[in-house]
Amino acid sequence: MKKIQAIRGMNDLLPAETALWQHLESVIKQTLAGFGYSEIRFPIMEQTDLFKRSIGEVTDIVEKEMYTFEDRNGESLTLRPEGTASCVRACEEHGLLYNQTQRLWYMGPMFRYERPQKGRYRQFHQVGIETYGLQGPDIDAELLLLSYNLFQTLGLEHCVELQVNSLGSDEARARYRTALVDYLSERKDQLDEDSKRRLDSNPLRILDSKNEATQALLDAGPSLEDYLDEESEQHFTQLTQLLDAAGVPYQINRRLVRGLDYYSRTAFEWVTDKLGAQSAVCAGGRYDNLVAQLGGRATPAVGFAIGLERLILLLQSEGHVPESLSRPVDVYLAAVGDVQAEALKLAASIRRALPGLRLSMHCGGGSFKSQLKKADKSGAAIALILGENEAAAGEVGVKYLREDKPQETCKQSALTQLLGEF
Ligand code: HAM
Repeated sequence: MKKIQAIRGMNDLLPAETALWQHLESVIKQTLAGFGYSEIRFPIMEQTDLFKRSIGEVTDIVEKEMYTFEDRNGESLTLRPEGTASCVRACEEHGLLYNQTQRLWYMGPMFRYERPQKGRYRQFHQVGIETYGLQGPDIDAELLLLSYNLFQTLGLEHCVELQVNSLGSDEARARYRTALVDYLSERKDQLDEDSKRRLDSNPLRILDSKNEATQALLDAGPSLEDYLDEESEQHFTQLTQLLDAAGVPYQINRRLVRGLDYYSRTAFEWVTDKLGAQSAVCAGGRYDNLVAQLGGRATPAVGFAIGLERLILLLQSEGHVPESLSRPVDVYLAAVGDVQAEALKLAASIRRALPGLRLSMHCGGGSFKSQLKKADKSGAAIALILGENEAAAGEVGVKYLREDKPQETCKQSALTQLLGEF
């Protein structure tokens, strides 16, 4: 019979990898707690219209990448391709936005029907950070500092670069869009196929084109910078000054536009050249109009999301990974002979006394030799050996598996002290 396999682009995370994931998640949670952010959780499915109305009908995500289906009632539902829309929906629904500021985060799977390759999957994981009710550039700077701190803690700051831009107000962007379309329409024959298509649907995305001829054409055309409104320009200047003051290195990239429609003013991406085509590890910006667009009261908002798979790939090749992550066990308790009950009791008392210790108790019997082999394979630093003689004497053998130290015998009552020092 043909075996059923996982869905393409949706990965299992096996025990050999989950320790690193847990490490990453805990570093992220610690960083977020250090900045005073709170967690919010929302469902992984929403009404399809939520994503259409926020991300934008004419975007790659909504046009081609959503997992959309009808439920048994005929309602159109979509597996979330991102978290910002759901976060706004949830905050609005529960009255978290009116006259309040919020600093929130969420973590979990997102779904996009993209062509899978290294760093790009159909189920992937994001940590999203969203703030509401704050319009000055200080909160934008705080978010960028937060992400920078995170990269520093992970030892990744040397392989990512921050690119920032201002997309201006909606009006400014509309004026620029007209100028850009006018300019490019006259030179349509010089555009690559993708850009020709985008000229009608989403011309600003042409700025993102990887095609060199198109980039050269853009060099000679109108620049978004020249169309920025006064307030956006000021906001952006202040942001860059704050980043300078905070010591967050950045590059201004006037061609940086985002693939989701809800952004205005600040837009940014942390990019790397270590992951091939998938260069963005973290991306976001301001979306001051989205809350009102979804039916709420106008509320300034800014946030970003990190792609966890991409961070894991970077950590595996570049970052600081604690050595202990490669082995899940510190101490292995071998139980040789008819001592299962004593072994269970001893293991329980050690765990009670040393809750941070990772103790694995041997199960399944077997000879002393075979149990020691298992102890070694577990990665433990110490094997405790409980045989019938030791059990009767209230003792235990202590064998050091990674150090050149002789085996010793220890009173069970003195074990906590011995292991506590280890
Ligand atoms: P996004 O740029 O679509 O923005 O995604 C953010 C990050 O998620 C990307 O930079 C990338 O690291 C990761 N990512 C996206 N698609 C995939 C994929 N198919 N496989 C693996 N990783 C992927 C957003 O989603 C916005 N909601 C960010 C935001 C929050 N803006 C404001 N607040």
